[in-house]
Amino acid sequence: SDGSKNSNMVAVVSVLEDSIINIVDVYNTDRFDFSGTKSFDKKTGYRSESMLVIPLKNHEDAIIGVLQLINKKNQYSKITTFSTFDESITKALASEAAVALTKQQLIDDLEHLLESFLHSINIAIEKKSKYTAGHIEKMVSITEMITDAINSDKTVFKNKNYSDPELKEIKMAALMHDVGKISTPEYVVDKATKLQTIYDRIETVKMRGEIRKRDLEIAYLKKSNNVDKETEKVLFSNYMTTIEKIDKELSFLEEANKGSEFFNDRNIEKVKEIAKAQIMIDGIGQNWISNDELMNLTVQKGTLNDEERQIINKHAMVSLEMLKPLPFPKKYARIPEIAAAHHEHIDGSGYPLGLKGDALSFEARILAVADIFEALTASDRPYKKAKKLSESMKILYFMALDNHIDRDIVKFIYESGLYLEIARKIIPEKYIDECSIDFEY
Ligand SMILES: [Fe+2]
Ligand SMILES: [Fe+2]
Repeated sequence: SDGSKNSNMVAVVSVLEDSIINIVDVYNTDRFDFSGTKSFDKKTGYRSESMLVIPLKNHEDAIIGVLQLINKKNQYSKITTFSTFDESITKALASEAAVALTKQQLIDDLEHLLESFLHSINIAIEKKSKYTAGHIEKMVSITEMITDAINSDKTVFKNKNYSDPELKEIKMAALMHDVGKISTPEYVVDKATKLQTIYDRIETVKMRGEIRKRDLEIAYLKKSNNVDKETEKVLFSNYMTTIEKIDKELSFLEEANKGSEFFNDRNIEKVKEIAKAQIMIDGIGQNWISNDELMNLTVQKGTLNDEERQIINKHAMVSLEMLKPLPFPKKYARIPEIAAAHHEHIDGSGYPLGLKGDALSFEARILAVADIFEALTASDRPYKKAKKLSESMKILYFMALDNHIDRDIVKFIYESGLYLEIARKIIPEKYIDECSIDFEY
């Protein structure tokens, strides 16, 4: 604060002059401003008298605080003055205190550094994909809401009592769970349509459609050149029918390009049929839709083909590989295990390690539920439509039935009404609807 005003305060002078100050009676000196001490006395009924002020120095000889002793008592409990012996013994103690203070400061700094670094990594992920950043942020708060509720629950989870460091460990694991996505290519992370790579290949498909239509127009114009009115009418009608058919096929392809929950076999057959249409490029006939485009357009669920699905699934292994070698302090040692298991399934069908049953810790199970809850309810992803809350809860319930995620946790979230609380916090009002699930199975 303001130097001139404080320069009369004993602690400040002790620091500035780096000196020990020994006062017989604070009420009987005008060397320092003791108005603070006096008003404290007034409030408490205490009477400050003798005082010893010693600066606290750390191992680097920097002053990190002040030790202030008040009212020395002699063997008869009478207040007396601090002696030079008191000064030297307190000075020795002060350096001990300074070391302890420094140590705590270093521990706090390290913890702060660790947490800040975790946030920095998420900033890097945000640069890559703002959807993933939003996902992580929301997933962390869902995880916190679940753990807090479990912690205060006195029924099914009455035996779960997390300490503050344990809660922090779980939170940091949530913060780190998708860290592996830093290595996932952008076009896969947020692949909005089936044909998107660096750009959306649907544009190429549409371009080839345009070539088809122009070739037809040229052919029609050539043929209709020296024919009678009747023949010309027939040729035109045939030409128009084909153009209309191509336009319909194009809009079907555009629709197919958007990922959906389930693209059925009939649609797949239709894409295959359309793909065979020939166009001439450089005088060579080729399929309207290339094999690679066909493979992508016939993806049944979402937008990712098998290869891309594998690439994206790798992030869980990368998370594990990134976190495992980090020398976390002992109280946070489980972060890699908790963070990297969020895509494991209880029945062993998950990834990256295919862990099964008891190999999946309760905390990892919480993260898995939080992760899926966020992914299901998200309304801002380019590759999927938003779901109603009731739909998301139903899917969560079926995943629990299938032994993919923890049944007790899902049941608890539903029956305690926590799912509504989470929903109100993270999803737009319009997707929140009535939800009824019968958990008696
Ligand atoms: Fe993940
Ligand atoms: Fe995730």
